[in-house]
Amino acid sequence: MSVELYAIRKAYGATDALKEVSFEVAEGEFFSILGPSGCGKSTLLRIVAGLERPDSGVLKLGGLDVSRKAPAERGVGLVFQNYALFPHLTAAGNIGFGLKGRVSKHELATRVGEIAELLDLDQALLARRPRELSGGQRQRVALGRALIRKPRVLLMDEPLSGADALLRERMRSDLRRFHERAGTTTLYVTHDQREAMSMSDRLVVIEGGSVQQVGRPIDVYREPATAFAARFLGSPGMSLWPMQLAGNGSGAVLVGDAGTEWPLPGAPGRDPCAVIVGARPERIGLTRPSSAACRLRCRSATVEPQGETAFVRAFHGQSEIVATTGVDAVPGLGGEVELWVEPCDLHLFDANSGRRLEPLSTAAGAMAASAHGVLR
Ligand SMILES: Nc1ncnc2c1ncn2[C@@H]1O[C@H](COP(=O)(O)OP(=O)(O)O)[C@@H](O)[C@H]1O
Ligand SMILES: [Mg+2]
Repeated sequence: MSVELYAIRKAYGATDALKEVSFEVAEGEFFSILGPSGCGKSTLLRIVAGLERPDSGVLKLGGLDVSRKAPAERGVGLVFQNYALFPHLTAAGNIGFGLKGRVSKHELATRVGEIAELLDLDQALLARRPRELSGGQRQRVALGRALIRKPRVLLMDEPLSGADALLRERMRSDLRRFHERAGTTTLYVTHDQREAMSMSDRLVVIEGGSVQQVGRPIDVYREPATAFAARFLGSPGMSLWPMQLAGNGSGAVLVGDAGTEWPLPGAPGRDPCAVIVGARPERIGLTRPSSAACRLRCRSATVEPQGETAFVRAFHGQSEIVATTGVDAVPGLGGEVELWVEPCDLHLFDANSGRRLEPLSTAAGAMAASAHGVLR
């Protein structure tokens, strides 16, 4: 069932938890709500579930306005972080709990069996109590408890945040595999960008109650709409530093501290304005890749080996820049380093609004194309 939100607002006293949040989730999509702690994710999910009323805005499920409908009338299933299974009931008892007394014993057993098969829980596991189950098994039981009522939308609020790193990784692929089998429209809340990136068909990035961007993970990663989204996605996120965008006779130029000047040929000259410049760590290196590459002078370099590759963290002014290099090619600790990035890998954001500056990134792309032409 599709989910549509239009201009949803919610305040708690003076706190604007949600400021005009709008997005649409298509039938069958796995859609993540991604953002830092306190940005309004749980509030949003509770509004979709009907546990919370928005101050204004419209919520549609399957095309019907359900803004005034009670939770039970919405056909949604919820899985929370602390999935609070009943300790005295077996796994089967927990899964079947929501249907007990509503259907015949026979039908209940059949439905529990179907769900258990979907979630790969065998008979022996179904007979156990929660304390006799592993974290991952408990998680699947909690999911089963939500699924037994055949929700048309599945809502999950940080369901993996209680698990350790290894289990989380396994549960990610389990959840994704399950979604591919069941096809239930899913809204998945997480603060973990890796989770959102690896599981979602699409996602929304939220900060301070406002939508930053909606899109496919790879599109948001490649073309972040705001500096916040650029920084939030990726591990580590995009490196960002301030510069001035100015114009001279031949076009636009990026001006930095200590005489740094990067021409942006093809971009029209313009009045000076403050911008945030960004590049992905995997696109910043320690060696000069081409004659057109931009040089960032940095200090206080430290090295973080990651296996075959290493991250080099260093400061350009007040901004921390992360570069990627081979683990055998790392510079001495604490030293000054020159980092290099191709103009086509630069992202520009307005320093005041944080919004992506589109015409200039296109210009940077054109510049990169011409640089490649020179190299050939
Ligand atoms: N019942 C409540 N009463 C007062 N403030 C709340 C309540 N629920 C949430 N908030 C506030 O609303 C904001 C968003 O909270 P929440 O939706 O829980 O964020 P998230 O799930 O992204 O961590 C936070 O500032 C939080 O303190
Ligand atoms: Mg929350």
